[in-house]
Amino acid sequence: MVISVKKSRPTEGEDIEIGLLIEALYQRYGYDFRDYSRASVKRRIMRRLSLDGFANISQMQHRLLEDAEFVDTLLQDLSINTTEMFRDPDFYMALRKKAVPLLKTYPSIKIWLAGCSTGEEVYSTAILLSEEGLYKKSIIYATDFNDHVLKKAKAGILPIEVMRGFTSNYQQGGGEEEFSKYYISDKRSVIMRGALKKNIVFANHNLVTDGVFGEMNMIVCRNVLIYFNRRLQNRVLSLFTESLVRKGLLCLGSKETIDFSESAHDFRSISAKEKIYEKKQ
Ligand SMILES: C[S@@+](CC[C@H](N)C(=O)[O-])C[C@H]1O[C@@H](n2cnc3c(N)ncnc32)[C@H](O)[C@@H]1O
Repeated sequence: MVISVKKSRPTEGEDIEIGLLIEALYQRYGYDFRDYSRASVKRRIMRRLSLDGFANISQMQHRLLEDAEFVDTLLQDLSINTTEMFRDPDFYMALRKKAVPLLKTYPSIKIWLAGCSTGEEVYSTAILLSEEGLYKKSIIYATDFNDHVLKKAKAGILPIEVMRGFTSNYQQGGGEEEFSKYYISDKRSVIMRGALKKNIVFANHNLVTDGVFGEMNMIVCRNVLIYFNRRLQNRVLSLFTESLVRKGLLCLGSKETIDFSESAHDFRSISAKEKIYEKKQ
C-alpha cells in the first residue's frame, strides 16, 4: 500500500502555531529545536500533521502535551538520520591523505563523532584508522541525541542490500582490502566485527544543551550543522573549538563550512573542498 503524504506549505497562521509547538516541546519536555533551521522543522511537522490526520497544529500540540509516546514520534521526525558508510568517499580519501599524517604524530588519539546517527560513519572511521595502523591507539566517542539511533549504532547490524553501495564508497574512499572482512553476514543482514567496536564509546550528547567533550584530537560532525540556524551553528562550533587540542582537526559535511562563523578565525583549512580544518596554535 502506498501512503501519500500531502506536502502542504504552512500558512502564516500555521507558522505561528509551529513556533508555539516547538516552544511547547521545549517547555514541557526540554527538547530544544528552537534554533533548528525553521524550514526543515516546518516540513517535518507538516508531514506528521498529514500522516496522522490532525485537523490543525493546535490539535497536534494538544496531543504532544498529553501523550509522551507522541513526543517520541515527533522527536524521530525532527531528527533526520540519513547516513551511509564512507559517505562522500572523497572525504575519506582526504582523511587518509591529509588528516592521518597529523594523527600519526600523537601517542594516543581521541576522536569525537558528533551526530553519529546509526553508526555507519563510526564504523567507517574505525576501519580507516585500523587500515592506517592507528586504531589501537585511538578512542572514538560516538554521540547523538537520539537513543534509538545510538542503540542501532551500538549493535552494528545493517541490512545486507546496502552493502554493495557501501563497498563501492569504501573503494572510492581509498580502501583496498576485501570489504567483507569487516563484517559477518547471514542471508538478510551483516554485523560489524567485534574488533571494530573495541575502542568505540557510544553516548548520548545533545549539541544544543550539553557541554564540552575535552581534549579531542579530531572532531567529525558531518551533515548536522546544516539543520541548525546561524546562532546554533556558532554555539556548536565554539563548543568544538573548546573541545579540540591545539592543532586538532575539525571535519564538517560537504554543505557545511566554518567560513563566516564566529569561529572562522580559530581555524585554518587543510582541505577546502572536503571541509577539514585545523585549530590554530
Ligand atoms: C543526517 S544525520 C548525519 C549522520 C552522519 N554524521 C553522516 O554524515 O552520515 C544527522 C544526525 O544528527 C543528529 N542530531 C541532530 N540534532 C542533534 C543534536 N542537537 N545533538 C546531537 N545530535 C543531533 C541526528 O539525530 C542525526 O542522527
